[in-house]
Amino acid sequence: MELLKLKKLLNSNAITLTQKILALSISALLFSCSSEIKKTSTSTMSKDDHSFAKADEISIHHIDLNLKVDFEQKTLAGKARLYITHHTKVDSIFLDTRKLSIQKIQLSDGTETPYRLSEEDALLGSQLAIKVAPNTEYIDIAYSTDPTAAALQWLVKEQTAGKQHPFLFTQSQAILARSWIPLQDSPGIRFTYSAAIQVPQPLIALMSARSAKQDSLTNTFYFEMKQAIPSYLMALSVGHLQYHAYDQRCGVFAEPEMIEKAAYEFADMPSMISSAEELYGPYAWEQYDVLVLPPSFPFGGMENPRLTFATPTIIAGDRSLVALIAHELAHSWSGNLVTNATWNDFWLNEGFTVYFESRIMEKLYGKPYADMLIKLSYDELSHTLEEMKDHADDTHLYLQLKGRDPDEGLTDIAYEKGRFFLRHIEQTVGREKWDAFLKGYFSSHAFKSITTTAFLEYLQSHLLQSIPGADEKIKLNEWVYGAGLPPVFLPPSSEELTRVEKSAEAFLSNSKAEAIDTNGYSSHHFLHLLRSLSSSISKEQLGLLDQRFNFSNSGNSEVLSQWLLLSIQKQYGPAMPQLENFLLQVGRRKFLKPLYSALAKTPEGKEEALRIYSKARDSYHSVSYGTIDQILGYTP
Ligand code: BES
Ligand code: ZN
Repeated sequence: MELLKLKKLLNSNAITLTQKILALSISALLFSCSSEIKKTSTSTMSKDDHSFAKADEISIHHIDLNLKVDFEQKTLAGKARLYITHHTKVDSIFLDTRKLSIQKIQLSDGTETPYRLSEEDALLGSQLAIKVAPNTEYIDIAYSTDPTAAALQWLVKEQTAGKQHPFLFTQSQAILARSWIPLQDSPGIRFTYSAAIQVPQPLIALMSARSAKQDSLTNTFYFEMKQAIPSYLMALSVGHLQYHAYDQRCGVFAEPEMIEKAAYEFADMPSMISSAEELYGPYAWEQYDVLVLPPSFPFGGMENPRLTFATPTIIAGDRSLVALIAHELAHSWSGNLVTNATWNDFWLNEGFTVYFESRIMEKLYGKPYADMLIKLSYDELSHTLEEMKDHADDTHLYLQLKGRDPDEGLTDIAYEKGRFFLRHIEQTVGREKWDAFLKGYFSSHAFKSITTTAFLEYLQSHLLQSIPGADEKIKLNEWVYGAGLPPVFLPPSSEELTRVEKSAEAFLSNSKAEAIDTNGYSSHHFLHLLRSLSSSISKEQLGLLDQRFNFSNSGNSEVLSQWLLLSIQKQYGPAMPQLENFLLQVGRRKFLKPLYSALAKTPEGKEEALRIYSKARDSYHSVSYGTIDQILGYTP
């Protein structure tokens, strides 16, 4: 039965593959007839189910923003000028918007033009159809954002480290850019941009772009982004911020109260960039900075070009969580330079990035350290696969997200199954060939988007074809279009962590916390210790561990959140005040989700969860409260 299913699956994929290649070559042929098309950076021959844009008719190639940031109204208001390229003779352009209020739209000849804003689709927002003329060069849209705009989080001063000034940041990935800019919100469409952002004194504005100049009279900040990017990389942050430079091209921004800690934590950034360049070619974005956000930032990090946004929860004091910086940096190649064409191809962004991240970590900190991180991730993937066993289709690398929030693709599958797939290819063909291939892949696809099918084609023609037997050993289709991990996969191991497992076993049987030899332990060892204990540890044993290691007050967010999870599961009371504190302070979804879920498993826990959540919800970003609302069945 299973075999039959698999065979069917492979066959059907073979058909779509050929069909897609055929479609691609036909459209390439058609496109090559028009000289105008070649000018655009667009390569969207794949349909994006998450955008109203019709980029094959008209595409945006540059956006000029002029916005005023109003903390009282919680709005961005002003104008977006969209420069367009006409590919076919049509009289309208279709944009993505979400809860934007449009005041007026004018064409480049100065005339006001009619437009139609469709009713809001819960998933996609509203389509904005604008009449254009054949010679329209640009469109001016006067608009303002809604106070509840999904990409924006407006923080009151109490939510910042300094507690003196409000703060604003955006999170555009996956399809939230449309809630603050009217645009073609699809990862297959690229444009350059410039911006003038006026903010209240003494705040500064930062964007995923070069800071060009500043008008101190009006406190307006000017930006220039000369490299074409997809919409999900549009980013803005406004706050009371300070800069620490490591060298000419790299540094960190944080609130003054955090800058020293941040500067210490990320001091390896310059070597991370050089390591990355040695691996896969020159860094293409000139500057690389990290912006440390307040703790409500819903993600660990976001690879906004030139300026990674990061959660302060990776500042552990011992540089132990900097793999996240390596990850966001790696996106400067995988994702920002070579971009997933649609959200179904998300693994092309994240799987490559996790693989690349791990190579940077290995180069910088050695193989035993990198192996330890790989093993920890593998355990997480195994857990995820177990949880997803009734949703086998979502464990394919290539996803079917039509009609769903692309956020649903944000699982360990894209990240970890993606990474293990690439690692498996590396192990099959050898590191040397694989690295040469990857370097070529990044440079030949720079500033372009790519579909899974096109990647597989490229992999065949530029690597596997010339290696006898590689195809047979790798089993591409099983990895990409099949469920879970294929039988060819070999699980990773880590000597460091095997040592930890032995200590865990001993403690479970003898309860001697003082006998655990933690000499040379990093936070990763402790994390693994807690995970290894979790199935059978008793409440009393938790108390003994807490006495010895003071886990309830750990300054390491990974260790602390794992400890809090364990404490919920074993109903270890002494950690509950810290749990509440953590949930009130931190808005990072990766931590919130398991903690609220664990609480919700018992009636008393759920009551407690709702009590805390009703206080905390206002301080979370929409990305986070969207998820937790669902977990707790909460209707605001
Ligand atoms: N680009 C992602 C974050 C993202 C993905 C936001 C999809 C919205 C939709 C970022 O690079 C990322 O993967 N962040 C991870 C950290 C990483 C070390 C796994 C995170 O935030 O946990
Ligand atoms: Zn990522």
